[in-house]
Amino acid sequence: MSKQQQLDFHTRVIHACQTPAQWGGATLPPIVQATAHACPTAEHLSQTFAGQTNDHIYMRLTNPTSRVLEEKLADLEGGGGTVVTGSGMAAITDACMALLRAGDEFVCGNSLFMSTYILFANVFAKYNITARFVEATDMAALAAAINAKTRFIYLETLGNPKLDVPDLRQAAAIAHDHGLPLIVDNTLVTPFLCRPLELGADVVIHSTTKYLNGHGDACGGAIIDGGTFPWNDSSRFPDLRPYVDRKGPLAYLDKVWREHHINFGTTPAPLHSYLTLLGLDTLALRMERHCANAMEVARFLLERPEVAWVNYPGLADHPGHATAATQFGGRGFGGMLTFGLANKEQCAKCIDHLQLIYHLANIGDCKTLIIHPYTTQYLSFPEALRRKLSIGPDLLRLSVGIEAVQDICHDLGQSLDRLGA
Ligand SMILES: Cc1ncc(COP(=O)(O)O)c(C=O)c1O
Repeated sequence: MSKQQQLDFHTRVIHACQTPAQWGGATLPPIVQATAHACPTAEHLSQTFAGQTNDHIYMRLTNPTSRVLEEKLADLEGGGGTVVTGSGMAAITDACMALLRAGDEFVCGNSLFMSTYILFANVFAKYNITARFVEATDMAALAAAINAKTRFIYLETLGNPKLDVPDLRQAAAIAHDHGLPLIVDNTLVTPFLCRPLELGADVVIHSTTKYLNGHGDACGGAIIDGGTFPWNDSSRFPDLRPYVDRKGPLAYLDKVWREHHINFGTTPAPLHSYLTLLGLDTLALRMERHCANAMEVARFLLERPEVAWVNYPGLADHPGHATAATQFGGRGFGGMLTFGLANKEQCAKCIDHLQLIYHLANIGDCKTLIIHPYTTQYLSFPEALRRKLSIGPDLLRLSVGIEAVQDICHDLGQSLDRLGA
């Protein structure tokens, strides 16, 4: 273990992968905006194309600012390497497509983020790829959905917005029993609360747009390869073999980058990588506060007569409470909660009366954010599917920010007070 890895997460999140000596003494990496990098000799550029140097060629391929973010995210998640992308959805697309061919299947939770759900259910279907959706916490269903065509299992650490908590150790064991990798979207909890690779997952996905950036000023994604899955041993991945020969344990990440990232062009803008690095410095502090505030807001809402129910993994009666308490290392239960009012109209009124809380389609910001998923993100979903995904007309999703918690509660309280008006 390196000296850096022994440091506490609070310190590593600030100091990992900092190389001021390489940056002219600067304490932040430069934002390298150059589209392409000049090379001194013909031979050197040829060697770089052959992957024999670590130098940069062209922005769509790699970029010095984005590389710092890649190294930092690998460190924080405990992975072997990272590819960063222009959005979380780009990361999900790259990560999955690298393992899929027409006719393949994969098994995933049915509580996935809305765009992931549409990508898996509708877009992949056009290429004859089948996503088998199961209850993410039902390990028997997960195992039963695996067949000879399955290529991986895909889960979210905390489903958005259902907030269900699959047991990642069990899911990884099931996946590995069948020679399959487990891919986990860790966006909602971040490596501060949970490091899926340590629980047996093989690949971690992030929308860095959310908590990792934390300030609502950059869009990005990441694929972190644990570097431990035995691609060569599994008969399911014959097309990974050339990559194993090239890159050994990081064969998968090499395939993601070489075959998909470069050719789909899912590259992040260097400025966004820089802003994400800046945001990461305060991740640990922010997550502590998100968790503490969300717990208090959940308790506050429980006391309100207008509120029919509150869904927060920190509450003892939440079905995923015990799993979350273990998997999140006792550090908290995240900053997301959902709650129910009498109906759609009451939800709209509640949003309209808010004075501090922002009404918008994002999560994981310093600011508290609210949305009514039924009439926004899930508007185009058939009613039966919305019901199946637990997206009711009575549900409001709250991404609890890091403001003073009494001010968040006061805003919610004054809005709820006016519901009858
Ligand atoms: C869990 C999860 N994964 C992925 C995404 C997609 O991220 P992006 O908006 O950066 O593409 C989101 C967006 O909200 C999300 O909540």
